[in-house]
Amino acid sequence: MGDGMDGIQFNRIGAASAPTNENEAVTTLLAKQGELEIMLHNIGGESVVWLTPAKDTSAIEFFFVHEGGVDLALDDGLVSLETGESFTVCGLTRDIPVKLHGDTRILYVTSCPSFASFQRFEESLVALLMRVNEKDHYTYRHSGAVLRFSLALYDAMGEDAPAVARDDLAVAALFHDVGKCFVPVEILQKPGRLEQEELRYILRHPVDSGRMLLQEFGEQIAEIARNHHERMDGSGYPRGLSGEDISFASQIVAVADVFDAMTSDRGYNEVKTSEAAAEELVSLSRQFNQKITLVLKRLVADGTLNKEEHELHEQA
Ligand SMILES: [Fe+2]
Ligand SMILES: [Fe+2]
Repeated sequence: MGDGMDGIQFNRIGAASAPTNENEAVTTLLAKQGELEIMLHNIGGESVVWLTPAKDTSAIEFFFVHEGGVDLALDDGLVSLETGESFTVCGLTRDIPVKLHGDTRILYVTSCPSFASFQRFEESLVALLMRVNEKDHYTYRHSGAVLRFSLALYDAMGEDAPAVARDDLAVAALFHDVGKCFVPVEILQKPGRLEQEELRYILRHPVDSGRMLLQEFGEQIAEIARNHHERMDGSGYPRGLSGEDISFASQIVAVADVFDAMTSDRGYNEVKTSEAAAEELVSLSRQFNQKITLVLKRLVADGTLNKEEHELHEQA
């Protein structure tokens, strides 16, 4: 709080503490009068935060981007706001993910005190997956399948399993595509070739998944998700990493990911049998680690990894 006199409250620059760590958030109450609250959100790094509905649905909230910038992930696409721009929220009915461009300061005015306007991500991880389900059922079902395939591969590897805890691999596998919440649904479901601009959204999703997981789970888990589209020969995305720059755990999720994609009906692809998909992955030895694909082939052959039995139950 600043110093006050004659009914004036001054809020000096620097009076509100800045976050000391990347991905940290500090909220400072600048002023409060009756039901009205004025706050300053200081959020470090390229975090993802949430805009959540107010308890009182008639409340009005005003957000002014004082420093930095934000992307709001609405159903019909991203809306970007730069420094100096603002938005007003009234009657929001569901959580909206908000991606920060970097260190960001947001001035926030609300007529409804006592609710957390910006929630930290960790409270909403599962809620997000449910939202992805509403938007794109394929990604949701696929996430569950990649989780199961990754764990089956991990378990079958015994001593060759990656030096990552089984639970950590599970988290990374389940949420590897969570960054797709920033991809508009019409791009996610578009059959055939994507335009340059549309492709940009797709190419970013592993980066966003990694960023969202980093906030709660740390670098080891984030890396697995961030690199699930990288390939051993450097032909993957988003960074074109190769060989040992991609963790073994991430290579497992990559194999599980492509195996599920090849054997699932996405509306525009040729659906392969589990055997054919495993065989093809083994043959792509420059891109996919044969230590993993040969285990996959064995699991398919002995019936341990039967695609159909591993389908997620459809959600009611
Ligand atoms: Fe992906
Ligand atoms: Fe995926």
